[in-house]
Amino acid sequence: MRIKTGILGFDELVGRGFPEGSSVLVCGKIGTGKSIFTRQYLVRGITDYGDLGVLVSLERGKRDLYHDALAFGWHIQRLEKEGTLQILGGPISSVSREMGKAKGKTEDFISEVVEVVETSESRRVAFERIDLLSMFSPDESELKVQLSRLRESLAKLGCTSVLTSEIREGREELSGLGAEGILDGVIVLYYEGEGLTRDRALEIRKMRGTEHSNRLHFFNIIENKGIVIEKIPGERVEKIPRESNREDTDIVKIQQMVDEQRKRLGNPK
Ligand SMILES: Nc1ncnc2c1ncn2[C@@H]1O[C@H](COP(=O)(O)OP(=O)(O)O)[C@@H](O)[C@H]1O
Ligand SMILES: [Mg+2]
Repeated sequence: MRIKTGILGFDELVGRGFPEGSSVLVCGKIGTGKSIFTRQYLVRGITDYGDLGVLVSLERGKRDLYHDALAFGWHIQRLEKEGTLQILGGPISSVSREMGKAKGKTEDFISEVVEVVETSESRRVAFERIDLLSMFSPDESELKVQLSRLRESLAKLGCTSVLTSEIREGREELSGLGAEGILDGVIVLYYEGEGLTRDRALEIRKMRGTEHSNRLHFFNIIENKGIVIEKIPGERVEKIPRESNREDTDIVKIQQMVDEQRKRLGNPK
């Protein structure tokens, strides 16, 4: 079973979606699009594919989450009210205060996430900034055990998760926790360039049990859409299977918009 990601143009890079029950790490430096990727996976999963979802953020409070998502047409607050989306966590300072009061540990926080997923029967989890869990668990091997426990519990529940981690400038380690090995997939996001321009790109570094794309793919972040993967020049739309036609028409239209904008700005690809 494959879980459609809701990221335009992405599913075909990973065998039509994430393997059901997998835990996928999305990592990259600051501003590379990690939050948008995860929220898009979650919100489109709810609105387009009828799944229930849990959003865990160790970075942003609810009001910021509601506000940031609106630029992409994602009504997180409405989904929360409807009961299709649960939100856990909050800025690290407040989570840490709560955890301190309760003498809480990473273990308890992860148990809470799993419990909410189970009782709400959620099929998707977006967990932003798992690297920040290291603030509660300075012991790296203990943290790996807990992440592995999270992965196993979610897999048992048939829940497919996307977890983000920030790569610090000048660092190589993908998860910042040495935890990439225990997860089922790793996607790396880039925002790099030479001279005055920068491009966004992503690669699938690992996806268990899947034949996946082995190249870098450019993408754009677009208002009211979110992340849209650029088509590889020369790839023809007719080749793409019927069931994703609606998305393909979208991608082609957006690609034309981007190309036109690039031409106007004198920055042809
Ligand atoms: N409404 C928007 N339209 C287009 N691009 C946006 C919009 N909002 C944010 N972005 C781009 O996305 C970037 C932030 O992405 P985000 O997923 O928050 O990064 P990360 O979580 O990796 O730090 C911003 O720096 C900006 O370039
Ligand atoms: Mg972020």
